[in-house]
Amino acid sequence: MDVKSLPDFRFFPYRVKYPSVEFQELLPTDNPLTLKTSSSWTYCGPLLTLESCNLPSSFNTWAEATVSGSIMPSLFSFLTYVHDFLTKNNQSHYWLTIRASKGSDEFDTPRWHTDDLFFSPLQPPINHARRQSLFSPITNLLKSTWTGPKSQELATQIQPSNPETEQYHHPPTIPTAQISSTSSNPTNWKLTTTLLGPGTLFIPAATNSLARATQQAAKTAARAADPDHICVSVRCVGCAMAAESVRAQLAVELGGHSIVQASAGECVFFRVGEDEGAVHSEPRSHGDRVFVNVVPGHEADLRALMAKWGMEYPRAWCVGLPLDIGEGEECLRDVGYDI
Ligand SMILES: [Fe+2]
Repeated sequence: MDVKSLPDFRFFPYRVKYPSVEFQELLPTDNPLTLKTSSSWTYCGPLLTLESCNLPSSFNTWAEATVSGSIMPSLFSFLTYVHDFLTKNNQSHYWLTIRASKGSDEFDTPRWHTDDLFFSPLQPPINHARRQSLFSPITNLLKSTWTGPKSQELATQIQPSNPETEQYHHPPTIPTAQISSTSSNPTNWKLTTTLLGPGTLFIPAATNSLARATQQAAKTAARAADPDHICVSVRCVGCAMAAESVRAQLAVELGGHSIVQASAGECVFFRVGEDEGAVHSEPRSHGDRVFVNVVPGHEADLRALMAKWGMEYPRAWCVGLPLDIGEGEECLRDVGYDI
């Protein structure tokens, strides 16, 4: 499957199989997957060897603290499909995130957005760089659940931020760093699935360009309301307010569109970026959900991305584990994956 021939997004069913004999007795119905807590595990590096004994040690730490039942059969089934897909498209490195989340009402109202470009042209035009500096915080906040500072955070909100320090201690769950690619044709698409719980929502392909235009208009209106506001902080109050405004506007304006939703056992291919990205949202989810996000990239680009966060390559870490395992940043230091 050549990605050049694919539209903004497409669902691909993959076979749920059990790659190794060791999983044949772990049928999902015998050992249903449930969550103990919300947390995520991320790996950035060459394609993993799909043998449980060869996974980074932090994966086992994360899985033991996060899931009940075995995640391996469904995860390896998806990754087997992903590896085949990536290999056929000459990709051998990726950013992989498994995000486990307990139910909440955070996505009762859809958060429609396109993902940021992961890898930008090597030397973007000046006005393009300016547009990213204006829009990226809003775009990131559109899909996040952060809607502004809590009361105890207000006292420190006026302090000038130090993006490098903040980003090191709070590594992103998905890369939205606009790394300048070493390639003339960087990857700006990804593969996702949901191993447990509801699938991602998409605006149908026929109305995707209209939805993108609606998103752009809402962002432009938010920018026009505060034309002098320029920042790069992902914790900016002004951007959070603008994002909330855009989010609410999009929820209303896109509410009339029909919606398509990925099903269990489907791999979703979709493009990112404001110009050709698929408009999507996390679904309403009041139960346990396990979402897997795969961002392929050239090795040099992913190395640069990790370096931007002050981390070595390859690397794996988990975020959000309970205190008896370690806070995210503690976990980040303690269970790193060195090859
Ligand atoms: Fe997204």
